[in-house]
Amino acid sequence: MRIELTADKLNAAGCALIPTMGALHEGHLSLVRLARARTDRPVVATVFVNPTQFNDPADLERYPRDLERDAVLCAEAGADIVFAPAVETVYPPDQPRQPVTIPPVAHLPQLEDAGRPGHFEGVCQVVSRLFDLCQPVAAVFGEKDWQQLQTVRAMVTLQHRPIDIWAGPIVRESDGLAMSSRNTHLDDKHRLDARALYRALNASTNAPDPSSAEALMHAELEAINADIQYAAVRDAETLMPLVEHTDRPARALVCAFVGGVRLLDNAPWQPRRQD
Ligand code: PAF
Repeated sequence: MRIELTADKLNAAGCALIPTMGALHEGHLSLVRLARARTDRPVVATVFVNPTQFNDPADLERYPRDLERDAVLCAEAGADIVFAPAVETVYPPDQPRQPVTIPPVAHLPQLEDAGRPGHFEGVCQVVSRLFDLCQPVAAVFGEKDWQQLQTVRAMVTLQHRPIDIWAGPIVRESDGLAMSSRNTHLDDKHRLDARALYRALNASTNAPDPSSAEALMHAELEAINADIQYAAVRDAETLMPLVEHTDRPARALVCAFVGGVRLLDNAPWQPRRQD
């Protein structure tokens, strides 16, 4: 495995790409393993803390960075190349930034956009740049960031890019908490409280319709005094509210601050059958 810091020698056309911001955990590594298992093509993991997707400069500043550790983990998981470009490589100061088409699924008032305005502009911009620099035929994104996954899929379609988007299942701790780099910011009490997100998703499966599911999710999160950002049941692809009697796949999505840490989770949802 090799580490590349510039795109000059990358030679990655036709690769399977796993974009990350580093601080890798089992969730990321499962995406690298998924790519390795699916293809004999080069597997490239990118490590780039993208400044354009952070709303808070302090959050960007304290984002953990440890390239050596990340590279060892990527090698063990089966990556061939770790691409860790500098900001100037991704956003050359002497070149105007290319406008990027942002799909409607990125802009839904009650989901991520409400708490993180502009976040998906930054994600679409960096993912487009990484696609241009690495020329992958496939890219892997985690289901944990469900709205991001749907946004990237829709963006690739809008941009007519011949890239398959592969989805990696959520990796959970033994008590159900979805793995996230942010979990390390939870103190012991809030680490226990954070289980409420998974409880909320499980509770939602007992509901006959989306609004009762949402009420059940809210109740679980209110029980730990979480600062709820959203707890919603949506069309799994468009993330629009469900129309009645639809048989399209649906997803329950939760986001809440627990002890000051913003946590996300989601799961497939279908109405409980009433006999
Ligand atoms: O999910 C992430 O870690 C980031 O949003 C991504 C896709 C690597 C873009 O910076």
